[in-house]
Amino acid sequence: MSEDESQIIAGFSKLNKRDKIKWIAKNFLYANPIEVLNEFAGFWHDNIESQKLLDGFSENTIANFPVPFGIAPNFKINGKVFAVPMVTEESSVVAAASNAAKFWLSRGGFKSTVLSTIKIGQVHLVYKGDKDKFITFFKAIKQDLIKGVATITAKMEARGGGVKDLELIDFSQIEPGYFQVRGYFETVDSMGANFINSCLEEFGILLNEMLAESPIFTPQEKDIEIVMCILSNYTPDCIVRCEVSCGVEELGTFDDGKMSGAEFAEKFRRAVRIAQIDPYRATTHNKGIMNGIDSVVLATGNDFRAVESCAHTYASRDGQYRSLSDCTVENGIFTFGLSMPLAIGTVGGLTSLHPLAKRSLELLGNPNASQLMEVIAAVGLAQNFAALRSLTTVGIQKGHMKMHLTNILAQFQATDAEAEKAKAYFDDKTISVSSVRDYLETLRK
Ligand code: MEV
Repeated sequence: MSEDESQIIAGFSKLNKRDKIKWIAKNFLYANPIEVLNEFAGFWHDNIESQKLLDGFSENTIANFPVPFGIAPNFKINGKVFAVPMVTEESSVVAAASNAAKFWLSRGGFKSTVLSTIKIGQVHLVYKGDKDKFITFFKAIKQDLIKGVATITAKMEARGGGVKDLELIDFSQIEPGYFQVRGYFETVDSMGANFINSCLEEFGILLNEMLAESPIFTPQEKDIEIVMCILSNYTPDCIVRCEVSCGVEELGTFDDGKMSGAEFAEKFRRAVRIAQIDPYRATTHNKGIMNGIDSVVLATGNDFRAVESCAHTYASRDGQYRSLSDCTVENGIFTFGLSMPLAIGTVGGLTSLHPLAKRSLELLGNPNASQLMEVIAAVGLAQNFAALRSLTTVGIQKGHMKMHLTNILAQFQATDAEAEKAKAYFDDKTISVSSVRDYLETLRK
């Protein structure tokens, strides 16, 4: 599309919702503005207050974008059964999670443990004065820096959190003058982004002030540039581990009895091993885990981009991208586990503002952040189990295409009666867009 003056606008945000839609209809969709308006308006919430709330979460909103909210029941996690809310647009994700949950329900369920909950923030700065003096100075003022943010941390400390430590890291060999103050934070039940960023910005101001007041530096040595203060979404010390385990014979048989539990366990173990060796497979393998993780993160109003970016950095922590899950078959015992960072919260942010996020948390028994980490990890592991079970037995397409059939039928606007007939017809046939289209055409003749 070539650049066109009419496509550039000043003050788009000032237009009301209707005018925004009409403007995009005219200048980008080249469609009847009223028709486009009606289409978008069809997705507005009936309740004006609810719509106002949703609009407030973002900017320049013209409508809502509905994504299915599903439930995966029968999740036994640490001895307690959950019906887990999952928000995803991908067919078969909720079905697969539910399936795996049911499978493990009678085999001891999922055992999840939070190993650590520390989050990280950084003040990136440039200091080109006397390096050794600066390092000594930092050690001397570290506690004062922490005390200096007391007004910000008071409430968090009352809840058991706060600034746990600060360290100065010297990167000046790589980038002239570059140092980093790395802060370690406990944010208890909140994801803690605002808390961490507020502390970091204050550390930046305090560093400047303390350096200016310090008698040990000459005036020329007092020059410091605070480049930026921001949390790190990489949280390798905010880790949850979830496991399932049982005797190989307890796994049952697979592929209509053609594969024993022991054979399945070994093939499954090898599939996980492949994802530990090969980054191409690891990416798809971890994508399967994230199918489950993201859908619960989203349903509970958490930041799935933060969780995603962190998970993938963690998966490459030894320099190569690898599987987040692991599997052993030892002395007849099959153990499948997932260890991953999950920086999420159950207070603050959208968790209580979004009515459905609030409901999701209620459904999970209003967990604290650690308990929610345990549930989310279990769903990620279940999702990975379901995918690998299909891949190593009947193949992924059988189940996938069955679910996909529903989407294809919707695409061709099949009636309920047509859909029912199509589902019966395709039960033992290969499903593709063209085969469904041909079938419907024949049916409609
Ligand atoms: C599809 O969304 C996810 C899978 O590709 C995961 C995997 O291959 O392990 C099925």
